[in-house]
Amino acid sequence: MNSKHDVIIVGGGIIGHSISYSLSKKGMKTLVIEKGKINKRATSAAAGMLAALSEVTDESPLYDIARTSRNMFPKLRDELYENTGIDIELIQQGMLNIAHTEEDAAKLIKMTQFHQSKGEAACWVPTTELNELEPNLSSTICGAMFASNDGHVSPLKLATAFAEGAKNYGGRLLEFTEVTELLIQNERVVGVKTYTDEFYSKNVVIAGGAWASHLLKDLPIFPVKGECFSVTSQEKLITKTIFSDECYIVPKQGNRYIVGATVIQGTYDERVNVAGIHSLLNKAINLLPKLKEAKWEKVWAGIRPQTIDELPFIDEHPTLKGVYVAAGHYRNGILLSPITGERIANLITGEYVNFGTKAFSLKGREAIHEATHKW
Ligand code: FAD
Ligand code: GLY
Repeated sequence: MNSKHDVIIVGGGIIGHSISYSLSKKGMKTLVIEKGKINKRATSAAAGMLAALSEVTDESPLYDIARTSRNMFPKLRDELYENTGIDIELIQQGMLNIAHTEEDAAKLIKMTQFHQSKGEAACWVPTTELNELEPNLSSTICGAMFASNDGHVSPLKLATAFAEGAKNYGGRLLEFTEVTELLIQNERVVGVKTYTDEFYSKNVVIAGGAWASHLLKDLPIFPVKGECFSVTSQEKLITKTIFSDECYIVPKQGNRYIVGATVIQGTYDERVNVAGIHSLLNKAINLLPKLKEAKWEKVWAGIRPQTIDELPFIDEHPTLKGVYVAAGHYRNGILLSPITGERIANLITGEYVNFGTKAFSLKGREAIHEATHKW
């Protein structure tokens, strides 16, 4: 059981599997260790939006990697399908970022201009033209920014395809096994400990999502719960993802719609509150009145891994040699999964990687550490 692996990855969510996939593709022997069943935490709660222009709205280190990662999806879809036969359900019909008021509209017009200045396909759609794009949207909307290259995938299919793809390249997976400790000798990692075993490797990646800081105590990551619900309808209600400050509606295959999501800080409790769903329902019906005619499917919640500056950690640990951190992807872990996998794999294999910034490093974010540990 405890034979040597090139890389041990702690956490079987989308980030852990994406890293395992990228590494095994390069011929590395990987072992993913997951404390429960894989893909059951934040990964399975996500709506799957690739909202590079709606979630990242201004100049930020996240902006570039979000767009790069989004652009990796068409090739990744083909590659994963060829390798595993799994269709990740990439839908590229674009996203409408809604203005509820004239004030929202002014902000979104500025945002549209910003994205255009970066060469992105964004345009402003005034109320009068919105009806042509999405006839079922409420007539009270004050226009929308249309980001035609933003789309969505099935997070579960994507995570499963990464996991299966890694397996097909020789990667291993261990479920229902919690890593309780890192094995460190002379400030270098040599493996991990579980309740019953030790597993050895000179490279360990922490990809434990919102729980990553339980293993690596100095990691400033905290939980932010999100609740969602889904419905189905007879007829197609929308073709594009509807995104607003208040809620989003994602049109999935088979006339199924995911509506999300609440933002509740500081809890690991994955139970759904009636108040959260009640409020989302009202907001979604305000945007898309025909949603009232849809049939109820289900509700769920998940725990997003947040950092104070909302930038993930994607780097080697500054003092523990051989320890890498890939966690804190907050609202964008599905979107950022391809680039995170590639970046960590390149760091470990020593290939050149250029994010052009230290923003995703642990170094220099001590102030954030202190702030995060206040709650
Ligand atoms: P998780 O999926 O939480 O996986 C971490 C895994 O590590 C867990 O399975 C856990 O059991 C395991 N683990 C932790 N500690 C240990 C240990 N010590 N030993 C063994 N295993 C361990 N992102 C988008 O890009 N687009 C979206 O539309 C989107 N929508 C979202 C909607 C909601 C409601 C929520 C909650 C999130 C959404 N996100 C979205 C964010 C996205 O889901 C997360 O950023 C992403 O899933 C994080 O992936 P992860 O692998 O880091 O974490
Ligand atoms: N990115 C959507 C969410 O986290 O709710």
